[in-house]
Amino acid sequence: MERSKLAKVKLPKEKLVELDAFIDSLEDKEGLLIHILHKAQEIFGYLSLEVQLYISKRLDIPAAKVFGVVSFYSYFTQEPRGKHTISMCMGTACFVKGSEQILETFCNELGVKSGETSKDGLFTIKDVRCIGACGLAPVAMIDDKVYGHLTVESVKEILDEYRKEEQNENQHSESVI
Ligand code: FES
Repeated sequence: MERSKLAKVKLPKEKLVELDAFIDSLEDKEGLLIHILHKAQEIFGYLSLEVQLYISKRLDIPAAKVFGVVSFYSYFTQEPRGKHTISMCMGTACFVKGSEQILETFCNELGVKSGETSKDGLFTIKDVRCIGACGLAPVAMIDDKVYGHLTVESVKEILDEYRKEEQNENQHSESVI
């Protein structure tokens, strides 16, 4: 497909240029579809329908093939993610220690369901299986940091810490401008 037709897709130009440059640098483009999708997710933050269609046209392969790969691998996300990802463990050890109530507290505090992103764009929460820290049950990870022995109170404190940190960053960037 010609570049001029691809240009109709409404995606940020500088990001498309970056993705194009990456695709152009590959010899076996179709065989490296997963590789390209990883790169696209890194560039755009998530794989929207537009991004998936763009890749299918750019590689000249059926859109269904791209959709199939994206939905097969849980690593890929089709929705925008929050700045921080909360992974609440619902494995057996955590479950018997009350992870259900902890997940509910996170969700209530953020006003979302598991799998969703808070309105302020700060957190995405999801439930996951054992993350290998059963001795600290109930456990959650926020990005790559582990929080153990969680209680309803500590969930609120942890979220407040992140919110304060965000406020400080915003104030700092305003004062720099
Ligand atoms: S069951 Fe939660 S860390 Fe293992």
